[in-house]
Amino acid sequence: MRRKIVAGNWKMNMNLQEGLSLAKAVDNFMQKNESGVEVILCTPFIHLAHITTLFKADNIYAGAQNCSNMDSGAYTGEISAKMIKSTGAQYVIIGHSERRSYYNENDELLNEKIIIALNNDLKVIFCCGEVLSEREKGEYYEVVKAQIEKAFSGISLSDFRNIIIAYEPVWAIGTGVTASSAQAQEMHFFIRSVIEKMYGKEQSDKTVILYGGSCKPSNSSELFSMNDVDGGLIGGASLKEDDFCKIIESFKGK
Ligand code: 13P
Repeated sequence: MRRKIVAGNWKMNMNLQEGLSLAKAVDNFMQKNESGVEVILCTPFIHLAHITTLFKADNIYAGAQNCSNMDSGAYTGEISAKMIKSTGAQYVIIGHSERRSYYNENDELLNEKIIIALNNDLKVIFCCGEVLSEREKGEYYEVVKAQIEKAFSGISLSDFRNIIIAYEPVWAIGTGVTASSAQAQEMHFFIRSVIEKMYGKEQSDKTVILYGGSCKPSNSSELFSMNDVDGGLIGGASLKEDDFCKIIESFKGK
């Protein structure tokens, strides 16, 4: 049995007060939730130190959405993995398509960020996924395989155990268009086969693979019912308490 995880990616939304109030509401919900689902709130940096002190539920954690590839020093505006860890946060998203496209983050840089995050005892949520033209040309398997192989280059099996993968087809992010459950399942199954080649069957069976891209209460149950879909990385719907809590509940019966 793999872990079931619902992670929220707030992106650049929520001021401090709004964020604390949402985090409190989700924590309250989680205090009563006994389904075993783990929840990770990936918030802007400014919320992290606050929300980690207010969490009371057992299965709720905080994460950042990015970290620097440098340890420390004269890098104005950057936030290091060590700083994130010092807030009590346990996770960091690396490789989100918005970072790849708007901030030109390439595979080598992402590999450096993953290594520095793991070296600082953070767990990584690594995002991969193809853009629309790659899907239309039928290149999506190759694209995702290359992203994974490059990102995890030089990463040992024991370090890899601290990585969660999120498959986020870029054409489904914030567009309202969701991958069908069959499309998600076939890609997750494929990703598991890539992990098996790199780290062996035992590890690939244990690796948590989340789906992200217009996931909402109306489609989460069906997506999460797929064999290789272990939960979701939720953008827009993670900003609304009701929607996010409904998504957490949609594992019922799995
Ligand atoms: P949406 O759920 O808003 O499509 O965003 C998905 C995402 O990018 C999560 O990281």
